[in-house]
Amino acid sequence: MRHLSVPRQETQQILSQLKAEFALPQGARVQPDPSDSKRTLIPVKEGAESELLSRYPVVHAEPLTPSPRTYRDHLNSFLSDLEIASIEWPTRHEFVGDLILIKLDSKQREYGEIIGQAMLMQHARTRAVFEDRGVVGEYRVRDLNLLAVRDGFDSTTRTQIIESGHQLWTDPSTVYYSARLSREREGTLECAKNLRDMLNRSISVCDPYAGVGPSLAPLVNEPGLLSNLFASDLNPAAVELLRENISASYAEIECTDARTLHERNELCGKFDLLLVNIPHDTLEHLPHLLPLLNDGGTVRGWAVIEEEDLQAAREVLANTLGKSVEIEVRRSYSATANLCRFESKIHH
Ligand SMILES: C[S@@+](CC[C@H](N)C(=O)[O-])C[C@H]1O[C@@H](n2cnc3c(N)ncnc32)[C@H](O)[C@@H]1O
Repeated sequence: MRHLSVPRQETQQILSQLKAEFALPQGARVQPDPSDSKRTLIPVKEGAESELLSRYPVVHAEPLTPSPRTYRDHLNSFLSDLEIASIEWPTRHEFVGDLILIKLDSKQREYGEIIGQAMLMQHARTRAVFEDRGVVGEYRVRDLNLLAVRDGFDSTTRTQIIESGHQLWTDPSTVYYSARLSREREGTLECAKNLRDMLNRSISVCDPYAGVGPSLAPLVNEPGLLSNLFASDLNPAAVELLRENISASYAEIECTDARTLHERNELCGKFDLLLVNIPHDTLEHLPHLLPLLNDGGTVRGWAVIEEEDLQAAREVLANTLGKSVEIEVRRSYSATANLCRFESKIHH
């Protein structure tokens, strides 16, 4: 293939010009000029015209093969072109720490192991690939099926994720965690800081649906923000990871049904901030939880609400909180429902 031999420092500028002239071949890769270490070779499309062809030496060189861009570019290590063309390959997958989770239809499932191996070839930092067969049970965990694991590594689903700079252990097969809510958790940190500034002291926080603790990691890592933290979850596997993730000396962590906490005198009226994140049940659970707040404390909650039920939800919330509250639509949850958020001060 034709290549221009150009001084190394002019490479970017010449690449841009060739691109603008549609003279760069698809997947073009620059390579060092073997005859002069101060020059690079840039491929030029066959038949393309450019005044650059008369300004710089034109040499013939083997083009570098384009680097694979997706796992699909590795399928030819396992399958014939005919087989590859006969399947609609999945185009979306999710990274959770060093795992990949992917949804497959029945035809794609026949090639699950090959898809897993091709993904390991494409993603060097991935340890194992699992088919995600959907969310199951009251703890909303994933039903996972191993497709491929990197040689010499284990196939556990326990993995470490990083959210807003904080490392957290999670396990998609035993606990709920979704990176999609990370913006909400940034908002919780802002809310907690505002409360601290308003009260002019560190604050007490209760997170009774804490999962593995993604809302709490930013709070405990903010110096002087918290004086007291009660975090719990009904799922024992989540509580085990929560204990590893949140190690502040003042943190009390329990495996408990949130709806029973108000029966404990030592917890009632103790908190400045209460998080209610059980989106399918928040409105029903809320009356059990409000006694945990002190007079003037803030509740911050999330609820999945069908669009047609929004007005009814406003009324339920107003009855529970004793005043009308804005329900903010945060993101769409399904074709007809949204994930919504509310925040309110409570006076007993
Ligand atoms: C939507 S997740 C939220 C987890 C976490 N706050 C987060 O943002 O990732 C809801 C959590 O509530 C827990 N859960 C379900 N029912 C519960 C109950 N009755 N009491 C306490 N926790 C419960 C589930 O195990 C799950 O971890």
